[in-house]
Amino acid sequence: MTRGQRIGVLTGGGDCPGLNAALRALVHRSVAGGWEVLGFHDAWQGVLRGEARELTPDTVREILPRGGTILGTTRGGPFDVEGGPERVCEVMSELTLDGLVAIGGNGTLTVAGRLFREHAVPVIGVPKTIDNDVWGTVTSFGFHTAVQIATDAIDRLHTTSQSHDRVLVVEVMGRDAGWIAAAAAIAGGACAAVVPERETGLPELVSRLHAHHGAERTSSIVVVAEGSSLIRRDGGLGRLALEITEETGFPVRTVSLGYVQRGGTPTAFDRLLATRYGNAAADAVCSRSWGEYVTFDGVSMQTKPLHGVIGRTRRLSEEAVDELEVTLF
Ligand code: F6P
Repeated sequence: MTRGQRIGVLTGGGDCPGLNAALRALVHRSVAGGWEVLGFHDAWQGVLRGEARELTPDTVREILPRGGTILGTTRGGPFDVEGGPERVCEVMSELTLDGLVAIGGNGTLTVAGRLFREHAVPVIGVPKTIDNDVWGTVTSFGFHTAVQIATDAIDRLHTTSQSHDRVLVVEVMGRDAGWIAAAAAIAGGACAAVVPERETGLPELVSRLHAHHGAERTSSIVVVAEGSSLIRRDGGLGRLALEITEETGFPVRTVSLGYVQRGGTPTAFDRLLATRYGNAAADAVCSRSWGEYVTFDGVSMQTKPLHGVIGRTRRLSEEAVDELEVTLF
């Protein structure tokens, strides 16, 4: 008797709006293609424990608009534990899996790429991250929702900034790349965005504020990415606020949006994009394109070799940061 075709799927790294939409599409299309799908709990930890449950069209019903991930997620992976990669192979063989689908950001995809390259584990990667910093794909799902949440927050903060003549410094996520900061600053009408890609000193920020305020105003919004040089120092956001006040005399308040940006329902755009990623991953499973990850070029979905993503980060280009500086006013 020949056994059926079977894959395991996991979601790794920080949670992100659209994960459930991607899982739903993957399950529907894989099952339609004759595959069984097992979902691992808590990312690689679930794989190492051999803990999975079957995902069917019934079990993924009504999860499309739900934030987070029904599978749970953790950071870290099999390369962090002695014998981890070997254990992955063992579990795959115990559960008679033909392959794995790893949905995650740079960390998860790097693990997937290394498992394929160093241990011949049949795996397909699917990028997800609000940070939008996965190499080789122009937009990952989750990003649009995060930018929308940050923009909505900035819109609201303008009211207080203007009423009280205050500078509001808004910290957004973006550990290694400033995509959220750049997009939310433009969409929200901030006067400055401080991103990890370019070292920004306090004097530059202060002169930008003076130019923006002119003789009349003292209200403005500054967006700072968590990974930018002015935040990644002792004292972080609070210290930056004090320094701006010391230099300018402007009253400054701070807001750190934190996990709010990752929470809740995905935007319609992210539901569509996540569905496309999930569908493309199922197609890659059906064609047994192990060692590839799904990418999006702004128009269509493709796959690329996972080794290209190992240890890399997609950052704003020099030109994009230059452009950002002249776009904000
Ligand atoms: O990778 C997405 C992200 O939200 C980053 O922007 C942020 O630095 C990080 O996750 C936070 O990680 P954790 O949830 O582990 O605190």
